[in-house]
Amino acid sequence: MTTSKSRNHSLNTPLAHAYKAALQQLDSLLSESVSLWRPQPYKERRAEWSTQRPELTEALLQLSDSELAVLSDSHEKLLNWLIPFVPELEALQRHNRLPTLSTTPLTDLGPHFSTSIPGRKLTQIEAFAGAVGKISHPIVEWCGGKGHLGRQLAANWQQPVITLEYDPKLCDAGEHLAERARIDQRFYRIDVLSDESTPHLPEHHSVALHACGDLHRTLIKRAVDALAPAIDVAPCCYHLGHSDEYHPFSEGLQLKLNRDELRLAVTETVTSTTRDVKWRDQEMAWKLGYEQLRQEISGSDHYQNMKPIDKSWLRGSFKSFCENLALREKLNIDSRRDWPHYESIGWQRQREVMRLSLLRNAFRRPLEVWLVLDIANYLSTHHYSVEIGEFCRRETTPRNILISARRNSSINDG
Ligand SMILES: C[S@@+](CC[C@H](N)C(=O)[O-])C[C@H]1O[C@@H](n2cnc3c(N)ncnc32)[C@H](O)[C@@H]1O
Repeated sequence: MTTSKSRNHSLNTPLAHAYKAALQQLDSLLSESVSLWRPQPYKERRAEWSTQRPELTEALLQLSDSELAVLSDSHEKLLNWLIPFVPELEALQRHNRLPTLSTTPLTDLGPHFSTSIPGRKLTQIEAFAGAVGKISHPIVEWCGGKGHLGRQLAANWQQPVITLEYDPKLCDAGEHLAERARIDQRFYRIDVLSDESTPHLPEHHSVALHACGDLHRTLIKRAVDALAPAIDVAPCCYHLGHSDEYHPFSEGLQLKLNRDELRLAVTETVTSTTRDVKWRDQEMAWKLGYEQLRQEISGSDHYQNMKPIDKSWLRGSFKSFCENLALREKLNIDSRRDWPHYESIGWQRQREVMRLSLLRNAFRRPLEVWLVLDIANYLSTHHYSVEIGEFCRRETTPRNILISARRNSSINDG
């Protein structure tokens, strides 16, 4: 069996230098173009860029629904379409994609091994496991849910696995599956953010598939402190965490990201069904229709942030939606309003927002790449040889980046 990666890089590998250089370059590009991606068309009718670039604004607003769908679906096509209007974006092109990681063939565990894993999750797990390559240490699975990934890796590499997960029901289900498959897998029902997770990390190969925000950041920090021999993380939901501001791992970066901007990195709907998209569009249109009404009543044209809505309100009429929202937000509205008028404004604004947001969307993947390079650079400076790349297709999961780190064997741990 071949391993997918060379595991013996010294600290100053060409890759480490390449990551550092790419991070610095992307940091400058994103900082310089902040006025193009920071304004949110949902909150701000016309951003400054829109007035400064009337041709781009017009071309975006003229896009048909099918053109919008094509550009929303492909980073490459979107950038190619935008570059004639915003030549600065050309420099972003090389940061829009990461290499596809090579994979190690996995042992065939038979048809019964994975029957309990839903289809797309199984594809993700197998792709992740293949991209991780050979595992030569006991495994610790961080935020493991039912431990599907841990079970797969343990069976493939004959290593014991510890799964850390705070939901007892998932742990119970996982224990049952491990027993049935005769896998040496122990579940610890703990909050990984507490100190209880730390003792599990030394001398273990840490894996985390889709651990959100603070969860994956905490793993990186603690695994490095524990001198863990290997770390494989597929991050997701960068915006979930305690702080409203992102605190970079690396020193000397200019870019400052808040929670909304971190969320931008993960707002793709590539795996959503047509039904999901329909509900999303309606929610946006109705909220924007309500917002128009609210601004008229309050006499202010400043967008007001809204807490998440009760999705069942979307099943009624636009009128009842606004009444429910107004009741919650303590806004006095007269029930004899011209509801079709506000609903149609909402849909018109939704149409515009979807099109004007395309410029912002072009920065989604580069922002995610910046976040991942920040971690890769941190790991490199802490004596790890690091590889980052895509472990599966976007259609399987848009959070398809794997950060794979191996502690440099020539480093004296003492
Ligand atoms: C997005 S799921 C990923 C699960 C699994 N790794 C997978 O890919 O199927 C995140 C998991 O983290 C668990 N989790 C969230 N916060 C946690 C915490 N503070 N400590 C332990 N587990 C946590 C959740 O219960 C959930 O099972």
